[in-house]
Amino acid sequence: MTIKGLNGEANSAAAAHKPAHFKLENLIRPNILSLEPYRCARDDYQSGILLDANENSLGHSLPPKSVIPHNPGTSNGATPVQSNEADDPLSLNRYPDPGLFGIKESLAQLRGVPNDAFVFLGVGSDEVLDLVQRVCCRPGKDKILICPPTYGMYSVCAAVNDLEVVKVPLITEGGKFALDVEAVNKKLSEDPDIKITFICSPGNPTGTLIPPTDVKKVLDNPDYKGLVVVDEAYIDFAEEEKAMGKRAQDDVVSAVSLVHEYQNVMVTQTLSKAFGLAAIRLGIAFAQPALVQIMNNTKAPYNISSPTAHLASLALSPQGIAQMRENVQTLIRNRDQLMADLKTVPGTGAILGANEANFVLVQILDLQTRSKPDNDVAQMVYKRMAEEMGLVVRNRAKDLGCAGCLRVTVGTEAENKRCIELMKGLLDGSK
Ligand SMILES: Cc1ncc(COP(=O)(O)O)c(C=O)c1O
Repeated sequence: MTIKGLNGEANSAAAAHKPAHFKLENLIRPNILSLEPYRCARDDYQSGILLDANENSLGHSLPPKSVIPHNPGTSNGATPVQSNEADDPLSLNRYPDPGLFGIKESLAQLRGVPNDAFVFLGVGSDEVLDLVQRVCCRPGKDKILICPPTYGMYSVCAAVNDLEVVKVPLITEGGKFALDVEAVNKKLSEDPDIKITFICSPGNPTGTLIPPTDVKKVLDNPDYKGLVVVDEAYIDFAEEEKAMGKRAQDDVVSAVSLVHEYQNVMVTQTLSKAFGLAAIRLGIAFAQPALVQIMNNTKAPYNISSPTAHLASLALSPQGIAQMRENVQTLIRNRDQLMADLKTVPGTGAILGANEANFVLVQILDLQTRSKPDNDVAQMVYKRMAEEMGLVVRNRAKDLGCAGCLRVTVGTEAENKRCIELMKGLLDGSK
């Protein structure tokens, strides 16, 4: 079976051959493999008088003083929009460029995959997580595997796609949250209906990196014919620890390195966290070109908007990447200070997980003995901080292995200080 739109030559030059037991065509739903992807005249012709796509020829209808940015390289500032295409550098009345090759090429270089054919772009990684389920899993028949405690959207997407969720908990003992490779592989060997295994690394809410060597053990399971999706939304916080000397220089932290060799892995990332661009909704998947092509064939035609593409290309410029790294290093320092300060708050317990992201998972203890995590006290702190004091954290107390835990996103120095003050007040005051 050929995959529609796949550049055969480029693919066979780049194609991974591992593992021998995996065949992409057997995993992808037959209706997805056979679908005729949407095509438009713009796929073939991009210039001239464009009367092909039922766009608005008069331009956009934004008020005259609305401010939008210029394209990269044309200006260093923002400019008032006119309702005339020449003065609308983003051509807001036109559908966006569907290829986005510049952004994909920048991402390929940044993460070290051979070229843009290894890169898929989605509306946040949330779109990618849903789309990969849609292409691989038959509603009402197939299953996904997750390792709780983990990011909630895997299960939400599974519910939308009518898929059963099989759970193999992380090893929660000691609050370390390691992948239980043996149990995952056992479950995968027993159940051929499991089509995708989601591994979150660094985990949310655990902050623990799952080493690519563990991921590899799942990829190599000869009984498993499905895909492993490694969600690396927070990977830059772990990567940057190398630059700060907190991690060995030869440590491989990202599973993107596996994409070169393995056909049965997809790594998702995002501009929402380290790049600080949650509002633009740009998610990324790295995978072998055949799988990327299938995702491209299935997605909505113009999923990435022109303003998003414009801002993403600025973020991925050398200057943007340098700024991202500087911000990540600042957040790592703030995180270390926040952790040290949390330990001084009477009534907080252990800080769980490995803290390799931009949040901290901290136990709140019972008020009487201050010896065990307490969900009611955690809820009290959560609710009173939000409702009476205007500071919102996340209550994760009901997650597996996270009894009594609040998840605190690392803020600015001042925000973190305020959080500590409020917690001290609430926990001291209620004793
Ligand atoms: C582990 C994980 N994956 C994915 C996402 C979603 O990211 P995006 O903003 O790219 O949709 C989040 C957001 O919190 C997350 O924690």
